[in-house]
Amino acid sequence: MGLSVGEIALDDPRFYASQPHAAYRLLREQAPVFRYEPGDFWAISKHADVVAISRDPALFSSAHGVAIDERKHPERIDARELPHGEMMLTVDPPRHGQLRKVLAHHFKTSALLPFSEAIRALVRRNLDEAAELGVANFADLVSIRTAIQTICVGLDLPRADWDELKRLSATQTTGFDASADADFQVAIDGFEALRSYFVDALADRRAHPRGEDDWMTTLVQAKIDGEHLPLDTQLLFCIDLLTAGNETTDPLIASGTLGLWQHPDQRTRLRDDRELIPNAVNELLRWVTPVHTMTRTAMADTELRGVEIAAGDFIVLLYPSANRDEEVWGDDADRIDVARPNVAKQLAFGTGIHICLGAHLARLEGQLFFDELLTRYPDYEVAGEVERTPSTLVNAISNLPIALRG
Ligand code: HEM
Repeated sequence: MGLSVGEIALDDPRFYASQPHAAYRLLREQAPVFRYEPGDFWAISKHADVVAISRDPALFSSAHGVAIDERKHPERIDARELPHGEMMLTVDPPRHGQLRKVLAHHFKTSALLPFSEAIRALVRRNLDEAAELGVANFADLVSIRTAIQTICVGLDLPRADWDELKRLSATQTTGFDASADADFQVAIDGFEALRSYFVDALADRRAHPRGEDDWMTTLVQAKIDGEHLPLDTQLLFCIDLLTAGNETTDPLIASGTLGLWQHPDQRTRLRDDRELIPNAVNELLRWVTPVHTMTRTAMADTELRGVEIAAGDFIVLLYPSANRDEEVWGDDADRIDVARPNVAKQLAFGTGIHICLGAHLARLEGQLFFDELLTRYPDYEVAGEVERTPSTLVNAISNLPIALRG
């Protein structure tokens, strides 16, 4: 018997980890604006609708929660917030634009290019160390490491702290889906530890400002309407950049590596034509879709595809579904095509005012990574079972046995 929309478990982290592309297709075909009663939200699966909602922040607010878990456990939201802090991801205009402007210039391509050599060097080291082990868990040794190290280079944090920051960062994303309060406590403890780490790091920047290209120096010196940002806002900026900056590029690297292995013709094509790398990274972003969902809240009664949505309703944007929508990508949406022509339409970074601030950094990291992988170990093999991390938020892999071969 085939799948029915009633069997789709949109608030279950395991559902997302199962890569449920058949379920997404069913939703697109039968219920593109789907009322998921158990979760008390609407699920949006069509590309055009995800775009329309993301580009209308007045009607669809980000200020009342951006994660499924916040609907499930509203009592937990306060525990993760700083009383005087604002985070750009969860703020609406006009304040959103003011906050985003503080750091935006650091995330332009031209400002990021100077990091290229440092990122390339750490990619090489991670690949070579994993290669020495024969079959190694690529997730642990390559993708997670590359992701955290890159964002720590960006934030200019001491190398000795990187491993601990990775551990603490992971408690934030898994904490979002914690089913038990005890597990959620781990996320709270992690948040507290990150908070106190960045209190010290920001105090150091205040006492010893670094160059004008230093992100945290900009944060401590920035003023909006003549006022410095409250410390809590500066802290949320740092914690957000650290977590958003690595929990997302890790899946791009891990699942992208897996995907190219599953599409040997595309791997060979890319190995032989490096000019395709920028397009290929966009295609891997589409095919992998590192972030499963973001949410919005309707600010007024409205209608979508003839379905009535009431003010206050919660809305889940299903990015992996939008990124495989046949209407945009055609019949081969499930395949990787490194030369796909319209790949700029992919929605892995969202769209509209909240479009990922770190998109250029993520692309740069992905481009350097796949270039190095295909130069050093073009004949790599996946050599065992792949295990994915249950999460409503990120599409991470926990175990990816790979033999790196040159
Ligand atoms: C492959 C990697 C990445 C993916 C797939 C990704 C995805 C996303 C998505 C889906 C959003 C929300 C869009 C929305 O709500 O409309 C977002 C926002 C954001 N991302 Fe990323 N991200 C990635 C890498 C990064 C990196 C490397 C950084 C930091 C350096 C970063 C920082 C942010 C920030 C600060 C926001 C909030 C922007 C705003 O609200 O204006 N992300 N990202």
